[in-house]
Amino acid sequence: MRRILLFILPILIIVALVFTIFGIVQVNFEEGRLMDDLQRKAKTVAESAELSARYILTNNDLRLANRLVESFQKRERLQGCVIYDKDGNVLSITERISGWSKEDKPYLKEILNTKNPRGALEKFKEYSIYSYVLPVLDDGKNVLGMVEVVYDTSYVFNTLTELWRHISIALIILVVSITLIMVLLQRRIFILPVLQLTEWFQHFQRGETDVHHHPIAKEKGAFGKLASEVEQIALSLRIARKTISDEAQVRVQKEELWTETKLKDLVLAKMGENALYVVSNREPYMHVIEDTTGKARCIKPASGVVTAIDPILRACGGTWIAHGSGNADRKFVNSKNKLAVPPDDNRYILKRVWLTKSEEEGYYYGFSNEGLWPLCHITHTRPIFREHDWQMYRKVNQKFADAILEELPAKNPFVFIQDYHFTLLPKMIKEKQPNATIALFWHIPWPNPEIFATCPYQKEILDGMLDSDLIGFHVQFHCNNFLDTANRFLESRVDTEKFSIVRAGQETFVRAFPISVDSYMGEGIERRSAEIEELSKEFELDGKIVAVGVERIDYTKGLVERMYAVDRFLEKYPQYRGKFVLIQLAAPSRIHIKRYHDLMGEIEEAVEKVNWKHSDGNWKPIIYLKKHFSPEEIKPYYALANICVVSALHDGMNLVAKEYVISNKKLDGVLILSRFTGAARELTDAVQINPYSVEEFADAIKSAVEMPLEERKRRMENMRKIVTENNIYRWAGNIITELTALKKS
Ligand code: G6P
Repeated sequence: MRRILLFILPILIIVALVFTIFGIVQVNFEEGRLMDDLQRKAKTVAESAELSARYILTNNDLRLANRLVESFQKRERLQGCVIYDKDGNVLSITERISGWSKEDKPYLKEILNTKNPRGALEKFKEYSIYSYVLPVLDDGKNVLGMVEVVYDTSYVFNTLTELWRHISIALIILVVSITLIMVLLQRRIFILPVLQLTEWFQHFQRGETDVHHHPIAKEKGAFGKLASEVEQIALSLRIARKTISDEAQVRVQKEELWTETKLKDLVLAKMGENALYVVSNREPYMHVIEDTTGKARCIKPASGVVTAIDPILRACGGTWIAHGSGNADRKFVNSKNKLAVPPDDNRYILKRVWLTKSEEEGYYYGFSNEGLWPLCHITHTRPIFREHDWQMYRKVNQKFADAILEELPAKNPFVFIQDYHFTLLPKMIKEKQPNATIALFWHIPWPNPEIFATCPYQKEILDGMLDSDLIGFHVQFHCNNFLDTANRFLESRVDTEKFSIVRAGQETFVRAFPISVDSYMGEGIERRSAEIEELSKEFELDGKIVAVGVERIDYTKGLVERMYAVDRFLEKYPQYRGKFVLIQLAAPSRIHIKRYHDLMGEIEEAVEKVNWKHSDGNWKPIIYLKKHFSPEEIKPYYALANICVVSALHDGMNLVAKEYVISNKKLDGVLILSRFTGAARELTDAVQINPYSVEEFADAIKSAVEMPLEERKRRMENMRKIVTENNIYRWAGNIITELTALKKS
């Protein structure tokens, strides 16, 4: 609209200006003509009365004078007539103008002296009139008196006003017509080709092959040239990508350890020009308004999904579609709700999907986190299934499906769906785009069929998930649970050889891929010794044995159990009073759910109880820091910790355990790890615990504290080897390799 205005406005201003000047000239000319006409008429009338006036003045015939002046009253536009004697005194005057006194007419004297007639515009009361005065002379050229003829001029002004009105109407009609013509022309000449060009380019981008039949491709002229240039660029881009992907294929085969580059090469080799489309509920970068400053800042939410997937997209590029849940998120997106992230080192695109409060309530807090989350975790928290939440969950899955479909290229896109928030998405995407390859990764445990049977929407959930080509879990045990569940509830064929589920011609492979981390948490810590020292000073950690815990406040994480394990440890082994500190970093999470809200109170109560019971002077055993910590802020805590405690009651994998291992370059740390985490299967050199057993937990703390350096080193070395080799790039690489291999078979 602004562009159209910019285009039309100058033209309209010029037209209006020319038309106004023309109007002024026209009106001036008309005014001159009318006044001329008036003057001529007044002169003729005065001259026609001259003879009678001479007779009247010579004979001083007042009766005749009155008759003469009254006769003028009947004339059109003529206001009246006045007859003066030779001294300028009124002899007779038409009644209509009788109030016009001699004092108002200083010009009479001059006419008597000069004996010349005079015509001019005058004021009578509030009217403008035209007066023509003719001196009446005898044969000897002596002044006998004067005749004054008075005309009404209002018709002149009325005529001029009417003329202006016509000019204005013509101007308005002209402006409207020009605007209309311009808008139509601009649409035809400019906007339509641009729209066609955009549409054509979108088709081209999506990889459609019949773009040459598009009207813009046949266009001659400038737009045709532009289209052909763009086509050339797009083609070269494709060819370049293809070449890079061939080179990548060669490199992938050579490199041993999985790195960012190796994954990038693999993606290019396997997927060619098809970019990666990741979908998750939690976004990797969130803009929030800071309470203290009121300014917006970008944070990385505490989420295993974010920790794992962000390095993959940083390496390969692509698009990540997620819920825009930050309260300042809308300020940072473009018109397509997208932004480049990370904000300081743009590597990939984040597309934010907006949810209403009631959608968030039903889909996220309700069905996902009060229903599916407790259903899948064995923590004795009852799942709650509300019909309304389920309806919202379906609606939001559809909303995400639409947002993804808008992005996908026409040919064989790869969509990588994360977690339990999107069980219906594979089906919704496949319905519209059957050639899409879909992998769904389930980041939490999968329950056994008896537990899953309690979910009222079991069939629809399985049905939605099984349109994926591949479903991944962290451990084989969860894969088995899933196959059992599908076998029990669906009419499907479970192939236990191939580990797949075949349903209505669609085969879904089920595989275990233990997720991992990159090396980020171990990077640059050497340069942060001042910061570590500062923390040590602030919390008086000098000479103490420091254990650290890093969690979202969630009932699956075994936080209350941890506090009471510290209590029991100090009770059982009082020699460590004053010498042992647990620093617990705790990020508030899902706080609108009552269970989570209550849990915050339970943890605080436990911390308070244990600290009160054991504290001595300045020392207290638990330092509880409840707030969101960025990865950068967490690093120094890992660095100063002699022990990391992971006591989850049930966890798909648990990446804190792996992060601590990667960060402990000095090889002097001990990991206490719950047996009920996926990580426990790989990290067998951790001190493993059953967090439900407070005695075992307390003793594990003791053995971690007392473990000789040699043993710590050996264990940590083994664990670091595993995490370094099975890093996040290998995880993603395995999924992509498996998927492409399975699709071919
Ligand atoms: C788990 C889930 C993730 C989720 C994370 C944080 O790790 O598997 O999908 O993002 O918890 O939870 P939140 O609800 O804050 O995203």
